[in-house]
Formats: sequence, structure tokens, C-alpha cells
Amino acid sequence: MADGEIIAGFLAPHPPHLVYGENPPQNEPRSQGGWEQLRWAYERARAALETMKPDVLLVHSPHWITSVGHHFLGVPHLSGKSVDPIFPNLFRYEFSLDVDVELAEACAEEGRRAGLLTKMMRNPNFRVDYGTITTLHMIRPQWDIPVVGISANNTPYYLNTREGLQEMDTLGRATREAIRKTGRRAVLLASNTLSHWHFHEEPAIPEDMSKEHPQTMAGYQWDMRMIELMRKGRMNEVFELLPQFIDEAFAEVKSGAFTWMHAAMGYPQIRAELCGYGTVIGTGNAVMIWDLRDGAPPPSRDPRTSERPGAHASSAH
Ligand SMILES: [Fe+2]
Repeated sequence: MADGEIIAGFLAPHPPHLVYGENPPQNEPRSQGGWEQLRWAYERARAALETMKPDVLLVHSPHWITSVGHHFLGVPHLSGKSVDPIFPNLFRYEFSLDVDVELAEACAEEGRRAGLLTKMMRNPNFRVDYGTITTLHMIRPQWDIPVVGISANNTPYYLNTREGLQEMDTLGRATREAIRKTGRRAVLLASNTLSHWHFHEEPAIPEDMSKEHPQTMAGYQWDMRMIELMRKGRMNEVFELLPQFIDEAFAEVKSGAFTWMHAAMGYPQIRAELCGYGTVIGTGNAVMIWDLRDGAPPPSRDPRTSERPGAHASSAH
């Protein structure tokens, strides 16, 4: 069996408002649309994913919280209704998904070998969280690619940001090793919003876009600073700034998916493609792609910057 590889990583945030705005048949509430710029950003991401033909999608969600250890979906098929506890008026979604259990078990095993506490989730009636479902629906509404779902142990909240993110780095490296050994062609999804200051009251019509804007100027400015570095491929600087970004913008990347994904990819210093940015109840959301394929077309270039830096991180393959 040939070694597996990570084809790409996507920053793929999960506001349930995006599913609500799209009105798919699986979601019970109906809307008049809304958040189009982010939903169209996901359309670009869907088109990119279509060209990648991965065997599996791995997603780390901040809203499947496990207090003890890192858990992995471990049932071949899961279905049911998932409700967002914060926005039950927007998200009541009938999900049905297939799990790549072999890869999930390999991830758990590699994590354990690296010193993490890991566990397989074997409950056949498990209700998958809205973060996992929203990210997967928005990136691949056909639901025809098996998934590996990974919980958030939330160590950055229980310990401190640096220690917690170090653990996510370990989880990322373990994930990469599991992908390599199982021969999968994998796409990673970091289900994270950027700045996370949000409104505390919902408009009478949730999709009234005249009420939608960044909650704080500082949060917006932080998002633009980080996205610009990502667009230029200056990922080392992104990771140097990450703890400060988390503290000052209340950024959801604190929950670890972003670090997990980049650790798994070997921290490639390549330009990300920004598919689009938008706010949801004031939080900053970007849909972005790090394409690791050989010969992948470079993202749109900024004429002020130099060449696309350093091809691909060999360790990610
Ligand atoms: Fe969230």
C-alpha cells in the first residue's frame, strides 16, 4: 500500500447560520437567505474540493467537547437530528454520514503512542454536534465522502493557550502519521471562526443583513492582519502571533483545530487562497485553502509580494 498523504487543509468555520441561509432539505427552519458572501465562499471551496477527490474528510470541531481525552467517531454510519443548543431556531438538521473507522482508529492509536489520552466513540445513537455537521455540509453537501470526526478536548482552556496548543500540535502529527500508514488521500477541515466577539441579541429576522457587521473594530483588524499573513504564506508569523490574536480577538482558533491542521500538514509556508470572509452575529469567518498538491495552481497573487514561497512541506506527504 502506498503511503497516504494530506492533499489540502481548509479553514472551514461552522456558524449554523450558513446552513440556515442555504435552506437545504435536511434543515427544518426556513430562511430568506443571508450571509451570501460566506456561502459563496464555500461554493469556491466546494469546487476546489471537487478537483481533489479525497478518500476522506477529517474535521476537528470545537463543539464536540470531551473533558477527558481526544475522541474519534467510531461507528461506521451515524444518523439522527442535530440541534444547535445556542440557535435551535436556526439549526435542526437531519444528518446521515459515513465514518472511516479504520482511519479514526489509526488516529486514536497514533495519538496514544504520542502520549495523548484518546478514545473511540462507539455509541450508535450518538448525536453529532452542529460544528462538525455545519462544516461538512458547507464543504460537501452531497455527504458522499467518509469522514473522521475529532472532538475538542479543550486543553487550551483547561491549561493555558500555549500548553493546550502544544497538545494540538501533537494530535496533528499523530493524525498525519495515521493518514500515512493507512494510505488515505485526506483533506483536513479546521472548523474555526477567527475573531469571536459576538452580539448578545439576535435581530427579529436573523437573516436581516442590515444588522450584520463586525462586533468590534479590533477584532476585524486582527482578522485582516492574520488573513493577509496567510495569503502571503507567512505562516511562521501567524503562529508567532496566534496566542496574542487569541487573547485580544477572543479567537475561536484557541480550541485547537487550526493548530491541529497545520501541524498535520507540517506547517507549510505556502500561500493560502482566501475564498471569502464575512461576519456572523459579529464574529469573523474566513474560508481558506492550503493546497498541498504538487503543481497546484497558486492562489491569486498579490503583485506587491514576491514569488510563491517554498513549494511544499515534504514532511506533510
Ligand atoms: Fe463555534
